[in-house]
Amino acid sequence: MKTRVFSGMQPSGNLHIGNYLGALRNWVRIQHDYECIFCIVDLHAITLYQDPAELRAKIEEIAALYLAAGIDPKACAIMVQSAVPAHAELAWMLTCVTPVGWLERMTQYKAKGAKQESVSDGLLQYPVLMAADILLYQAGIVPVGEDQAQHLELTRDIAQRFNSLYGDTFVVPGTSLPAVGARVMGLDDPTQKMSKSAGAAGHAVALLDSPDKIRKTIIRATTDSNPAVDFETAGAGVLNLLTIYQAFAGTSDEEMKARFTGMRYGELKKQVTDMVVASLGPFQQRYREITGDPGYLREVLTEGAGRVAPIANDTVGLVKERMGLFR
Ligand code: TYM
Repeated sequence: MKTRVFSGMQPSGNLHIGNYLGALRNWVRIQHDYECIFCIVDLHAITLYQDPAELRAKIEEIAALYLAAGIDPKACAIMVQSAVPAHAELAWMLTCVTPVGWLERMTQYKAKGAKQESVSDGLLQYPVLMAADILLYQAGIVPVGEDQAQHLELTRDIAQRFNSLYGDTFVVPGTSLPAVGARVMGLDDPTQKMSKSAGAAGHAVALLDSPDKIRKTIIRATTDSNPAVDFETAGAGVLNLLTIYQAFAGTSDEEMKARFTGMRYGELKKQVTDMVVASLGPFQQRYREITGDPGYLREVLTEGAGRVAPIANDTVGLVKERMGLFR
């Protein structure tokens, strides 16, 4: 049996090149080597308030972006989290074996919580639901960006704790990070990771941005006080631009040095812009074709949920058995 892969994205904000380089592109690369499930995690999105109409539209937008990136719905299941109730059901069972202290230590919880006047219980439980997503399918590999590594560490801890309390039940999953692009930083502030929720203009390049908007964002990107590219002393902003280029172009470290050492920042930004625009062009074209046929999108999502539900229900059945719940 092929190892199972599970990953997902929240349908909140606009997907950006960090989401693409950190996760989505890797999904496309490995989709034929494993049995893959790619999820749109709407239950995670509602840990912060979402406008209902916008959320519903976003779910379909994310599904179309998965397809536009090249995910093949015949090879992989593309599904919406809330369409398979077992996600929420298993999350509750795992909540009961997870110490609160583990959750309070999560850096994303602390960062997101600090921005809220009052914090929902859902925000604290967020990583338990994420663990449920993964453990429900006995996934062996979870391809994500670096910001999710701590949540995966916790997923392993929860799986091991459950296994030691109730006997071997869950596969303990591994994390798969890309070699380049695991942490794309904000273009306006390279000390912060590029984020869907940071609203500032100039922060991110969204996957659906026009060439003109992409150009404007990259031209304004923060660099440093060096006159030109020097790999030894470059600041975080310049390194981030180089990373974005390298990730899209697939260039080796040696080629990067040969090409960019001594290049002035104006020229560097032009080359990064050209690379991003050229890479996103075909992607945006496919997105327009896919969204022209909303019936197709719904079919893909219905079929995806139908395909994975039996796996999810089997796991919930097993967990009920192990925990002594009513069957
Ligand atoms: P989300 O929606 O924030 O991000 C989706 C994916 O994009 C990656 N990513 C980045 N990679 C590189 N640079 C960045 N600046 C950057 N920003 C985001 C994320 O690491 C992620 O892989 N909790 C998850 C969603 C989730 C999930 C799961 C993932 C729910 N259940 C189960 C894997 C398995 C999240 O909020 O991702």
